[in-house]
Amino acid sequence: MKLITIAIDGHSSCGKSTMAKDLAREIGYIYIDTGAMYRAVTLFAMQNGLITDKGIDEDGLRRRMGEIMITFQLNEQTGRPDTYLGGVCVEREIRSMEVSKWVSPIATLGFVREAMVGLQRLMGEAKGVIMDGRDIGTVVFPNAELKVFVTASADVRARRRYDELVAKGEPCSLDDIRANVIERDRIDSTRAISPLHKADDAIVLDNSNMTIPEQKAWLLEQYRRVAAEE
Ligand code: DC
Repeated sequence: MKLITIAIDGHSSCGKSTMAKDLAREIGYIYIDTGAMYRAVTLFAMQNGLITDKGIDEDGLRRRMGEIMITFQLNEQTGRPDTYLGGVCVEREIRSMEVSKWVSPIATLGFVREAMVGLQRLMGEAKGVIMDGRDIGTVVFPNAELKVFVTASADVRARRRYDELVAKGEPCSLDDIRANVIERDRIDSTRAISPLHKADDAIVLDNSNMTIPEQKAWLLEQYRRVAAEE
C-alpha cells in the first residue's frame, strides 16, 4: 500500500486523538497531535509570565516564539508519543484545566499558527503520518489523501473529558468542563484565521454513539480503502 497523509479534524474532546493514535500504532505511521503543540505554546506563555490576570502579552510571546522547542518522543510504557517542551516532558501539564482555558485564545494568534503550521508541514513532509487538529485537512495538508471530520454532542464530549481527568486523579467539575468544551468550540469555529470547518472532501464521523473499538475499525477500513486506491 502507498504511504499517504491522514488528516483528522474536528471538535474538541471528541476522541480524535485516541482513534488517530491507535491507527498509527496499527499501521506503523507517525502520529502528531497538533493540539498538544498549541497547548505547549500556552504552557510556555504561562511559565514565562506572558499570561496574567490582564490576559496574553502578545508582543512578549511574539518576541519569544523562537525559544519554543516542541518535540514528541514515544513513551515505551504507553506506546504513545509524549509532548516535550524545551526537552522536558510536559504531557501531564498541557492537559490541565488552566492550559485548556487559555489554549483557544493562544491558537487564534496569527504568528503562533504560522509557526505551528510550518513545523507540522515539516513533520509530515515524508507522508506516512496521521495528524489530528482543527485545520489539518483545510490548511496544513489540503492535499491529504484521507480526511476525516469527527464530531459528537457537547454532553458526550464533556463526559469523556471528565472521565479522563477523574481517571488521572485530577479534581474537576462536569459543569466547568462542559462550559469549557462549548466555549472552545465557539472560539475555534469563529476565529478569523483558519477557523474549524469541515474540508469539502472530508468524511464526517459522528461518534456520539460509537465505542472506541467501533471507531477504530471504521478508521482502519477508511485507511485501507484509500491507501489501496492510491
Ligand atoms: O485538540 P485539543 O483540544 O488538544 O486542542 C487544543 C486547542 O488548540 C483547541 O482549542 C484548538 C486549538 N487547535 C487549533 O487551533 N488547531 C489545531 N490544528 C489543533 C488545535
